[in-house]
Amino acid sequence: MEKDKLKMEGNSPPLLKVDNLSKKYLIKKTLFKKEYFKAVDNVSFCIDYGEILGVVGESGSGKSTIGKLILKLIQKDSGKIIFKGKDIDNLSKSEEKKFRKDTSVVFQDPRTSLNPRLKVYQIVEEPLIIHKIEKNKRKDKVVKAVIDAGLDETFLNRFPSELSGGQRQRVAIARAIVLDPDLIIADEPTSALDVSVQLQIIKLLEKLKNEKNISLLFISHDLNVVGNISDRIIVLYRGKIMEKGKTSDILKSPKHPYTKILFESLPPDHPSHRKDLTAIPEIEREDIEGGCVFYHRCPVADEICRKEPEMKKFQNREVYCHFA
Ligand SMILES: Nc1ncnc2c1ncn2[C@@H]1O[C@H](COP(=O)(O)OP(=O)(O)OP(=O)(O)O)[C@@H](O)[C@H]1O
Ligand SMILES: [Mg+2]
Repeated sequence: MEKDKLKMEGNSPPLLKVDNLSKKYLIKKTLFKKEYFKAVDNVSFCIDYGEILGVVGESGSGKSTIGKLILKLIQKDSGKIIFKGKDIDNLSKSEEKKFRKDTSVVFQDPRTSLNPRLKVYQIVEEPLIIHKIEKNKRKDKVVKAVIDAGLDETFLNRFPSELSGGQRQRVAIARAIVLDPDLIIADEPTSALDVSVQLQIIKLLEKLKNEKNISLLFISHDLNVVGNISDRIIVLYRGKIMEKGKTSDILKSPKHPYTKILFESLPPDHPSHRKDLTAIPEIEREDIEGGCVFYHRCPVADEICRKEPEMKKFQNREVYCHFA
C-alpha cells in the first residue's frame, strides 16, 4: 500500500484532478418552469499526494457540494474528476471498489455521523466488513486505526454517547483511516468542537498526512484553521473559485478583493479568533446581467466588472478578478 502511494509521487500526475466541475440544484419546479441554483460553477483544482488543500468560503458557497461530488455521493452536471489518473465516471467494478477504499470522509458533527447503537469497535470495523476484509485481519486493523487516531484499546467497548466530542471525532477519524485511504474529505471536521480540542484534531490530521502520506480536502469556514493546516487554499464565493494558491503566498499577499477582506485582518496564531464570513456588507449597486459574482460586495468594483472576469493565472496563483 505504502509502495503504491510512493510510486505515484514525484513528477507523476496529482492524486486528484478536478476540471471545470459544475453542479446546480433544482430548487423550484412548476408546470412551466424549472429553477436551478448554481452551487458549484466551473471549479478546477488538484490535490497532490500527501497534500492538504483547504477550501474556505461562507455558508452556502458550495464547499460540501464539492466534497460530495468527489465522493460520488451526488451527480455532477459537467466537468471531470480524475483520481489516480482515472476518470471516476468510467471505472470498472473493481476500480470503483478500489476508489471507495481509497477515499473516505470525516464530517463536522461526530454526534450525528456515528451510529449511537454501535460500539467504537463495530463503528471502526464496519468499513472493513463492507470491503470484505477477512475476519482474522480485522481486529488488528481496528486497534491500529484507533491507536493512530490517538485513543487506546479501552475505548473499543464504549458507545459514542460515552465519549467526549473530541474523542468521538477521533473515532470518526479512525473509521476514515482504517482502510488506509489516499484521500480524506474532511468537511468542517473541527467546527463542532471546543477551540482547545480543535487544535488537537488539527494536529492529528497533520500527523496522519505526514506519517501516512494521506491527502486531505479540508473544508472549513474558519480562516485560522484553514490558514494553519493547508498547504494550498481555494477561496470559494457562490460556487466559484475567487483565488487559489499556496497558503503562505495567500496569507502574505492576497490578490482577490474577497480574499483580502478575509485574510488581511487575520491575526496570526490566534486560535480563538473567529471572523464572520458573511459580515461583508452588500454595496448598493444596480443589478447586472452576468458579470463578476462578487460585484455587489466588492469594494473596488468598476464598470469592467459588469463583464465576467477570466481566471488570471500567475506563478503558483490564480485569481478571478479584472484587477489582479
Ligand atoms: N440537495 C439540495 N437541493 C437544493 N439546494 C441545495 C442542495 N444541497 C445544497 N444546496 C444549496 O447549494 C448551496 C451550496 O450548498 P453547500 O452545502 O455545498 O454549501 P457549504 O459551502 O457547504 O455551506 P455550509 O458552510 O453552510 O456547510 C447552498 O445554497 C445550498 O442551499
Ligand atoms: Mg457544508
